[in-house]
This record gives sequence, structure tokens and C-alpha cells, in this order.
Amino acid sequence: MTTGYDRREFLRLGGIAGVAFASGLFSTAGARAQAADFHFVQFSDTHWGYAGAANPDAAHTLEKAVATVNGLASQPDFIVFTGDLTHTTDDPKERRTRLARFKEIVSALRVKDVRFMPGEHDAALDRGEAYKEFFGAPYYTFDHKGVHFIALDNVSDPAAKVGDEQLAWLAADLKQRKPDDRIVVLTHRPLFDLYPQWDWTTADGAKVMELLMPYRNVVVFYGHIHQEHHHTTGHIQHHAAQSLIFPLPQAGSQPKRGPLPFDAANPYRGLGTRDVGVSPASGYGIKELPVAKA
Ligand SMILES: [Fe+2]
Repeated sequence: MTTGYDRREFLRLGGIAGVAFASGLFSTAGARAQAADFHFVQFSDTHWGYAGAANPDAAHTLEKAVATVNGLASQPDFIVFTGDLTHTTDDPKERRTRLARFKEIVSALRVKDVRFMPGEHDAALDRGEAYKEFFGAPYYTFDHKGVHFIALDNVSDPAAKVGDEQLAWLAADLKQRKPDDRIVVLTHRPLFDLYPQWDWTTADGAKVMELLMPYRNVVVFYGHIHQEHHHTTGHIQHHAAQSLIFPLPQAGSQPKRGPLPFDAANPYRGLGTRDVGVSPASGYGIKELPVAKA
């Protein structure tokens, strides 16, 4: 697989993957006039600090993915990390050591516009205290070339809730949007009940979806489940990314949630990052990127 970004290929792959949105997604002339084609890269679930049999290369996988993204022929406008930057630890000092080392590794990215958000491994044990020391607010918005991005925190609360305060903040932000504004939601956990038995849900995700539903052009990119996954609720699409540490099985496909065994013949199977192309004419195109060039 090539790692260069090519517009024709993006459209083609988007079509094959069934995730190229209808051209009507960006439906108004106003939206078209404001928009420009661009792409961004999503990293997720890097789990820096993990040590175990599911990835004997854990100390180097993130560095390899950074090198691969740095080698893209067309550099993305920005990069997002959708949580679980580090692997969980009970030791607050070790948590900070891992966050610091993670930050150091990703500082090698050529693209300097990098957005972070926490996963429950980073933030659930101290309600995001250490995470905030390194990366600031766990939820925020930003705008890029006519698209409104909303990063939501559904991990700092150990009960997996977005919480009333953030819901009120989200409602106030959405009030400023027009019904056909293009909105991308970034978050760690799925906002729908993908498989609550394995903690693949957000306790008050239904409240988030209720707030988003009136907006016609919303798409969600998330992580947490360590595999590519596509789902639609109403008119809103949800796209889960692969991880960079170990793949997890499909929901309910085995009795317990646990890493898929390491395959020495194919060490990066099921791992990678993702390039997301944004086009006013054709919507979003997703291209999964390998950890390292073959
Ligand atoms: Fe994770």
C-alpha cells in the first residue's frame, strides 16, 4: 500500500470501504464556497508504556508510525490523537513519565499542528489531572477550512460519562452552529452502545447524540476498540480507528475482551493510523495507513 496521499486514490478507497459519503453531505452553496479540500491523520490508542506478549515491538511501534506519517508525500494539515496515549498505571509518577516520553516521541512529527485528547488509560484513575498537565483541556473545539471540530472527553470520568457540565458546554457550542454546518466530532469511546459488556460505550452518549442529531452534516471519529469499525446512527456516521499497540477482537466474538495474539510473521497486522480526506464534493474518504512500509 502506498502511503502517499492521492486525491483519486482517496476517492476510490473511500468507495471501496463504503465510507465515501454522499455528495449531498455538503449540501449548500454556502458550505461549498467556504470549504477547501484537505486531509488530516488520526492516531489512536498508542498505549505508550505497554509491555506484554501482544506486542513485543511496543517500544518502537509508535516511532515507526511517526516515521511513516512523516514520509507521506502530502503532509496532512493536522494530526489528531484520539486517546490512550499511554498505557494505564497505578503510579502517578510513572503516568507522568509515560506522558512525557510519549510527548517527546510525537514531537518528531513533521506536522506541528497536533491535537490530543485523553483515553481512559491516561485519565480515568486521576480524572485527567496528569493528562492536563501535559496537554491542557481534555475537551475543546477548533475550526479548520470551514469544518467545525469538537473534541469530547468521555474518559476522565471513571463512570465513562461526558457529564452534565460538558454536555452544557456542547449544547452552547452547537447553538452557535447552523443546521448544515460541517461538524466533525473526535472522541475516545464510541458514543453509541457498540458493546457495553466490554466497556465499548459512553454512559451518557445518548445525550450527546440527541444534541448532535439536529445537525445534518456530522461525522464521528473515535478509538478505544482497537480496530477499524463503521457504524451509522440516524444520519450520523461513526468511524473507529485501529490502534498502534495490539488489535482487539470483534465485539462479542470471544468470551473475554483481550488482545489478539501477536503474529510474528505479520507483526503489525491490525495496527496502523488513518488518513481522512475532506472534500466538499465527495465528503470524507478514509484511508487506513500501515505502521511501517512493507
Ligand atoms: Fe486503548
